[in-house]
Amino acid sequence: MAKTAEIIIEGKSYTFPIVEGSEGEMGIDIGNLLEQTGAVTLDFGYKNTGATTSAITFLDGDKGILRYRGYSIEELAEKSTFLEVAYLLIFGELPTPGQLSGFSGDIKNHTMVHEDIKKILDGFPSSAHPMGVLSSLFCAQTAFYPESLDPNRSKEGVYLSIVRSLAKMPTFAAWAYKNEVGHPVNYPDNSLNYCSRFLKMMFALPAEHYDVDPVVAAALDKLLILHADHEQNCSTSTVRIVGSSKASIYSSISAGINALWGPLHGGANQEVILMLEEIKKDGGNVDKWINKAKDKNDPFRLMGFGHRVYKNFDPRARIIKKAADDVLSKLGVNDPTLEIAMKLEEIALKDPYFIERKLYPNVDFYSGIIYRALGIPVDMFTVMFAIGRLPGWIAQWKELRENKEPIGRPRQIYTGSNQRPYVGLDKR
Ligand code: MLT
Repeated sequence: MAKTAEIIIEGKSYTFPIVEGSEGEMGIDIGNLLEQTGAVTLDFGYKNTGATTSAITFLDGDKGILRYRGYSIEELAEKSTFLEVAYLLIFGELPTPGQLSGFSGDIKNHTMVHEDIKKILDGFPSSAHPMGVLSSLFCAQTAFYPESLDPNRSKEGVYLSIVRSLAKMPTFAAWAYKNEVGHPVNYPDNSLNYCSRFLKMMFALPAEHYDVDPVVAAALDKLLILHADHEQNCSTSTVRIVGSSKASIYSSISAGINALWGPLHGGANQEVILMLEEIKKDGGNVDKWINKAKDKNDPFRLMGFGHRVYKNFDPRARIIKKAADDVLSKLGVNDPTLEIAMKLEEIALKDPYFIERKLYPNVDFYSGIIYRALGIPVDMFTVMFAIGRLPGWIAQWKELRENKEPIGRPRQIYTGSNQRPYVGLDKR
């Protein structure tokens, strides 16, 4: 028998169907709640609200499980490449060798950006945060490809926008950095793979030979895989809600970049490094800072611990911690903040305060350390997250479109004044 839920409002009972996910999760389908009962649900921060059904990413926060299209994040991070994972997320299956070479070839064909984009870039002062520059350049594509504004775009047209998005993202990201440091931009070198191409555009200086370190490129590829999707997080929900108004893929993703920028979302990895630096400058007494984190009256917050949906280890954090160890030893980098991070983690994992509150390290805790070892400057950390998250945003935008989902339009419970007569200026 189909499962149902009963809601009783002022003694009257209403029945709603329960929708079951492929992993046994349950959602009460309240699609006609308002119509039937006159009431809406209230759920600040959407903590208990399923905004959609999705076949892209499965996450079990209690067990610490993350899978893209059914494949475990551990296996994908170990065996796959970022472009394979991007293909998997967007099109639903791992690519065959032919599909992968077609896809990466198409991406290579579109890595150049229109020269006029440089004029837009030139308008930004070097004090501009690269995330703001990135979202602006990304949205500017609507001007260069106005056909992308057509809400009824053909399948081929959508594919072209997807390929352009993936192809130009590393170019925009590297150029946002060049703007910050005041250097001339580099053009994409299509003899290189996705991550190496980005690294060269970011770090090469004019008239100097630049070889991409394969250890750095491989570590970056893994990091991008780990960030590629995370179901209905804040930036992805933003992409979906903007996309639901039939805004173009470029404007929807640009909105996602802005949502990711905040320190409570993608900006957290930058905050972790700043915190570790502060602890180091203070002498590195980890116990002191753990106590500060536990003190209700102290404004200090342990960044990179705890997660809205993981009540267990964030599986990405385990992989990143190991990758950070490997990369630092391969590159011969001795970073004292890694030691501080490991000590913080060790103490916090034994401390009842953190255990009771299920505060485990999340993906941001170690990612800053590894980005720094790769030579990425701190305010580019969130940009790296955005490059990684791009396939997820694309996949979710495409799914929303294919499922013909309605425009996102939440309701509210009004708490303001009741109707009152207007008071003229002379009487106020
Ligand atoms: C993410 O990867 O988007 C973050 O962990 C945040 C989230 O899932 O809420």
